[in-house]
Amino acid sequence: MEKYLINPNQKISHINKDIYGHFAEHLGRCIYEGIYVGEDSKIPNINGMRCDVVNALKDMGIPVLRWPGGCFADEYHWKDGIGPKEDRKKMVNTNWGGVVEDNSFGTHEYFELCSQLGCDTYINGNVGSGTVGEMNEWVEYMTFDGVSPMAQLRKKNGREKPWKIKYFGVGNESWGCGGNMDPEFYGCLYKQYNTFVRDYNSDAKIKRIACGPNVDDYHWMREVMDKVKHKAQGISLHYYTIPGDTWENKGSATEFSKNDYYKTIARAYRIEELINNHIAVMDSINPQKWVQLIVDEWGTWYDVEPGTNPGFLYQQNTMRDAMVAALTLNVFNKHSDRIMMANIAQTVNVLQAMILTDAEKMVLTPTYYVFKMYKDHQENTLLGSYITSDTIDSKEAGRAFPQLIESASIDDAGIIYATVANTSADTASEIKCQIADTKVKSVYAQIISGDIYDKNDFDKDELVNICEFHDFEITDDGFTAKIPPCSVVKFVIE
Ligand code: AHR
Repeated sequence: MEKYLINPNQKISHINKDIYGHFAEHLGRCIYEGIYVGEDSKIPNINGMRCDVVNALKDMGIPVLRWPGGCFADEYHWKDGIGPKEDRKKMVNTNWGGVVEDNSFGTHEYFELCSQLGCDTYINGNVGSGTVGEMNEWVEYMTFDGVSPMAQLRKKNGREKPWKIKYFGVGNESWGCGGNMDPEFYGCLYKQYNTFVRDYNSDAKIKRIACGPNVDDYHWMREVMDKVKHKAQGISLHYYTIPGDTWENKGSATEFSKNDYYKTIARAYRIEELINNHIAVMDSINPQKWVQLIVDEWGTWYDVEPGTNPGFLYQQNTMRDAMVAALTLNVFNKHSDRIMMANIAQTVNVLQAMILTDAEKMVLTPTYYVFKMYKDHQENTLLGSYITSDTIDSKEAGRAFPQLIESASIDDAGIIYATVANTSADTASEIKCQIADTKVKSVYAQIISGDIYDKNDFDKDELVNICEFHDFEITDDGFTAKIPPCSVVKFVIE
C-alpha cells in the first residue's frame, strides 16, 4: 500500500488559472473550421464562432488563449486582418501547408472569441518579419482609449472601446522559425521591441513574455534572461513530447506498443527536470524572481493521421495523451510558485487537441476531460503533498518515472482537491491517504480511465469520459483507494 500524505498546514503557492491555458494558431483546421466558420455557415455559430466548440471550451474552464501563433505569429501582419473582410489581403501560410490565409479571422474576431469564451488574452507579436512600428501600432490599436491614428482606425472598424491584453509575447521561437537568432541578438531585440509595447492602461498593465528556450537550451535561457530580467514578466519554454527518435518518424497517435506508451510517458515526465533546471538558471540571474516561467507550447506531437495534410498537424488522441496531460498538469501545479502560465498545443484539430471536428461533428478528446477534471485546481493554493510510488523504467527512453504522480490544492472554502495519475498500463495501485490535522467528513471522487489505446471518435459512442469513482473508503484522517491502471482520479475532500 502506497502512502499519500497531504498537509493543509503547508500552503505553498497560488495556482494561477492560466497554467490551464490554451493555444490556437492559424494552423491547419484549428482556427478555420475548428473554431471560426463564418457567420454564413450552416454550423450553428455566433458571429462566426462555432457554438458547440465555444460551449465545450467554456465548460472545460478555458482561462486564457494564446494567438495567432506559433510560427505563424512571426509572419503575421495584423493590418491584413482588420476592416471589411472582402478587402482583407490574402497570404500564403508558408509554415503550415502553404495554404491561402484569407485573414477573415483577425484582431476583432480574436477578441470576440475570447469574450464568448470568457477567457483572458495572450497575443503573440511579430519580431521575425515585423517592424517595431508595426508592433507599436498594433498595441495602440488594441489598447489605446484616447485620440490617435490607431484608436481612430479601430473605431472606424466598429470597436469604440479598447480591449485588454493580459499577456503579450515579443516574438515566438526566435531561435528557430521566428528568425533563427542567437540569444544575445534576440535579447537586445527584445529590449528594443518591448520599449514600444506601450502600457496605455495603468490599471491593466500588459505582462510581457520574452521568447525563451527550446527544451534544454540552458544557454539561451541564461543569455536572454540576463538581457530581459528588468523588462519581462515571463519567459517562455517550449517542450513537446515525441515518442519517436526523429522528427521524420515521430510515431502514430493510435498505433503504438506498450513500450512506446512508456517511452511517451517517460519523455513527458522530462518536463519536471526541464522546469527545475530552467528555474535554477533563472534564479541564478534573477534571484528576486521578477520573471516567471511560461510553458506556452507543450503536449504530444505524433505523425499526422494517414491521408491528412502533413502541414496541418492533425492527430488523434488516446488515454496515452490523457496520462501525459494529467502528469504534466500535476507537475505544473507543483511548480506554481514559478509558473505563471502554460498553453497546451493546440485547442482544436492540431497536435494534442481538446476537440476534434469533422464538418458539423465534434469530438471531445481524453485530454479535454483531464482539463475539465482539473479545473478545480484553478486559483487554488497548492498544498504540501507526497506520495510513495514504484518507479517505471523506460529503457527505450533511457528514463524512469514514478508510477503515481499527484498534486493537491485547497480552495477558499477549505475543500481539498487531490489529483492522482497512475501511469502504469496494467497495474493498479493501492494508496492510503492521510491528511494532517484533519477530520475528514466526506470524500467524492471522479475518474478518467481506460485502456492505453482508448479514444473518442466520430460516429461512435464516447469511450473516454469523466465518471464517478467509488473504489475508496473514508478513514478518520483520509481515505484508502485502489487506483486503476492508466487512470487519473480526483478526490474532493471536505
Ligand atoms: O504548435 C506548432 C508549432 O510548434 C508552433 O507554431 C511553433 O511555435 C512550434 O514549433
